[in-house]
Amino acid sequence: MSSSAIAITGSGISVPEHTITNEELCVGFNAYVRLFNDENAAAIAKGEVVELRESTAEFIETASGIKQRYVVNKSGILDPRIMRPVIEQRPDEELCHQAELAVRACKQALENAGRVGEDVDMVLLASSNLQRPYPAVAMEVQDAIGARGYAYDMNVACSSGTFAIQTAVDNVRAGSASCAIVVVPEIMSGHLNWCDRDSHFIFGDGCAAFVIEPLATSRVDQPWTVLGTKALTRYSHNIRNNGGYLGRCEPERRDEPDKLFMQQGRKVFKDIVPLAATFIREHIESLDIDPERVSRYWLHQANANMNRLIAKRVVGRDTEPHEAPTILDTYANTAGAGSMIAFHLHNQDMAAGSTGVLCSFGAGYSIGSILLRRQ
Ligand code: COA
Repeated sequence: MSSSAIAITGSGISVPEHTITNEELCVGFNAYVRLFNDENAAAIAKGEVVELRESTAEFIETASGIKQRYVVNKSGILDPRIMRPVIEQRPDEELCHQAELAVRACKQALENAGRVGEDVDMVLLASSNLQRPYPAVAMEVQDAIGARGYAYDMNVACSSGTFAIQTAVDNVRAGSASCAIVVVPEIMSGHLNWCDRDSHFIFGDGCAAFVIEPLATSRVDQPWTVLGTKALTRYSHNIRNNGGYLGRCEPERRDEPDKLFMQQGRKVFKDIVPLAATFIREHIESLDIDPERVSRYWLHQANANMNRLIAKRVVGRDTEPHEAPTILDTYANTAGAGSMIAFHLHNQDMAAGSTGVLCSFGAGYSIGSILLRRQ
């Protein structure tokens, strides 16, 4: 391995304390549907308002593989009169919600890497949604863990994690930083339209963090060497969120549904499966590795059926569950953190010399692929 080899030397995850099962979610959602239909009965009868339909736990699990999700606040989401998490802004002197989730994952990742905050000189916080524009949440995390150097935020939606890993690897390899931490705290419950039957079940809150440093400085026995990274973006409206700071300039439209997560799920499925499969396969082959010899695929965690298809197209056969592990049943879609959480939970059993691919695909469209080998 070359002296400039870069490695992932520790990982950590964190989740908020509340969980919501599909069954609980549907009880709350269906109560909202009945309330809405009762209150709008006259307009529905006249054809002026579309009657809402109920959701089922069976559909959610079959269509996506999701059984439950972690959320920062449960009571608001399940209250048919609220239908959103109730999350109060904390005083500026306290850690904000997103930084709190991030700090917990960072501490675990540092411990697993045999490092302390002071060893870190780059904090890259990547997320689909940032709690505020500035100062960077990354700087708050940098301060809380006692890191040195520089910190900044970035957002590539569901590919935030893989794109940040690529950036951190490049920074460490170039010598701009000696030890980086990539942290991906996703409070997806805050941007989800809990009133929308097509998407109310998709996301969960969660966070993952990786310590990235030269292989030569690793303090752990079996770090994961980064063999290559690759990123792609292709503009599409099929997953979109028009929320943003200009919303206050048109207050009459500020709370319209397009200011939250929206997607054409079927179209996304059809576009992403071939795009991601070809991209991942070409990345692996460009590094002279046979996709069949890759031991594990930590795929983006959006849909279990989609992952089965992508893994099959990459490897050329049906894969066993352990080859492309899913965490959707427990965590749902945690956007940029999903494949990193899958890595954290499913890498310790792998032998020295084995390879794995960590990848993401989502809004943008954006696709990221990180090829790893265990020392
Ligand atoms: N409960 C019960 N039925 C539901 C439902 C719900 N919550 N939501 C939709 N349905 C119904 C629909 O009405 C439709 O029935 P109909 O044909 O009688 O009208 C049927 O189920 C199929 O709906 P559809 O939206 O086509 O489902 P799907 O199989 O495409 O699954 C997703 C929906 C979102 C799970 C799936 O499309 C997906 O995951 N796509 C990829 C999304 C992705 O990767 N996004 C990236 C985000 S990071």
